[in-house]
Amino acid sequence: MTPSSLLALGHAPLDLAAVLLLAFGLKRLGRVSTARAANRLAALAMTLAVVGLLLHQGLLGWPWILAGTLVGSGLGWWTAHRVAMTAMPQIVALFNGCGGMSSLLVALAAAGLPGETSALAMGSIVISVLVGAITFSGSLVAMAKLQEWLDTPAWTQRPSRHLVNIALAVACVGCSVLAFTPLVPTALSLALLATLALVLGVGLTLPIGGADMPVVISLLNSYSGVAAAAAGFVVGSRLLIVAGAMVGAAGLILTSVMCTAMNRSLLSVLFGGALGSGAQAGGADQGEYQNITSCSPEECAMTLEGARRVVFVPGYGLAVAQAQHSLREVAQLLERHGVDVKYAIHPVAGRMPGHMNVLLAEADVPYDQLVEMEAINPDFPRTDVVIVLGANDVVNPQARTDPQSPLFGMPVLHVEEATTVFVVKRSLGAGYAGIRNGLFECQNTSMVFGDAKQVLNSLLQELRELGVGKVDNRRQAPVLAG
Ligand code: TAP
Repeated sequence: MTPSSLLALGHAPLDLAAVLLLAFGLKRLGRVSTARAANRLAALAMTLAVVGLLLHQGLLGWPWILAGTLVGSGLGWWTAHRVAMTAMPQIVALFNGCGGMSSLLVALAAAGLPGETSALAMGSIVISVLVGAITFSGSLVAMAKLQEWLDTPAWTQRPSRHLVNIALAVACVGCSVLAFTPLVPTALSLALLATLALVLGVGLTLPIGGADMPVVISLLNSYSGVAAAAAGFVVGSRLLIVAGAMVGAAGLILTSVMCTAMNRSLLSVLFGGALGSGAQAGGADQGEYQNITSCSPEECAMTLEGARRVVFVPGYGLAVAQAQHSLREVAQLLERHGVDVKYAIHPVAGRMPGHMNVLLAEADVPYDQLVEMEAINPDFPRTDVVIVLGANDVVNPQARTDPQSPLFGMPVLHVEEATTVFVVKRSLGAGYAGIRNGLFECQNTSMVFGDAKQVLNSLLQELRELGVGKVDNRRQAPVLAG
């Protein structure tokens, strides 16, 4: 299609097609099996919208658009291929920041165009600048903290930080109002607003502990959607308005889901400071463990040999150990032995939403073996062996039984109801919440101490030595007559 034929179509049909493609793509993101294709569809929608808008407004010619697309896609491809799965939250934070910065720049550029600016347009510009700047600086701080480039300075934990942030927020509101009046040049009030909002973004994010960052990133994701929707009004892009609104709403819902699953309020995450997390506090209640039983991978393999139903519970430690491929090999061996294998997925296992799904998908674990917490909990009493791999808080029974526990009320996996539980981790150390775990002391629990990958590799060797999986014992599907 030539540029002129594209232009002849007009802007509106292209925009509408892009909106429909995006909505269709987002809908298909809901299923793991269609997610990749859906992502491509959404990317095509964005490309159509950007190209259509640039051509329609006559801002740039094809050579610039092509050059920009090549550079942007190249950078995106390079980043996505280089990043380790455990570093995904940082990348999401960086991309959120880019979104915020884009909205900020688009709004500032629109404000600089000659001609009268209506009150509605100025309102959109102000929101884009304010939210875009907060998102940009906040996301960079979040990324730097997750990447361990930045610590939480002790002075940011003083209560007076709230006063500083409130003063900055009031000053931002003041600059926003000034932008509507002829008292100061618009450029000056917007420049001041952008500067103050950038500082506010740092002030709001810097005091929050690194472990709470995934929640903050999800919230910043929502902000980036609001900024993009406002930028959509500024440049008159329906797609940007629709996509921004969807991102804003989705980010907010995800933030709320994460807070509920962690049994924390958003306010305690945002204003509780770094010490809000037990892990950061150095462990609130480590306590002394008594009657701990431990065993070797060899003993674990012997129990597995006689099991019929096995559930693996992946957690943050599995991601740290990068043991997903070893886990898949063990599972395949057991399946060939006729064992029914499932993976129990807790909504906040790991450190980002969907962390375990992504990790296991990397090792080509079949999606139908991944069972969500609510669905698998009733199955534990019928399960012969549960193997907990680098998970801790998400299998802590005190969340159900001990009203004094900081985890009390958080929905957890009821693994202790299985016949035998093996917990694979390096020590009796605490998880993210920094508290002791009564599961380790249960009579049917045996600890298998070690790095998850090393333990799984030893287990694999032991199972092979026992002859597990040598003969394919999988039950065949009955052949239907006729
Ligand atoms: P955690 O409770 O954080 O426990 C992880 C365990 O992995 C640790 O106890 C650690 O014990 C073990 N571990 C670390 N490296 C290991 C390795 N190489 N090999 C074997 N084990 C290793 O993890 P979880 O059960 O997945 O729970 C997630 C926690 O993060 C929850 O409290 C949740 O609220 C919080 N959180 C989640 C999210 C999202 S969205 N997923 C966001 C923010 C916070 P050792 O040191 O003894 O090995």
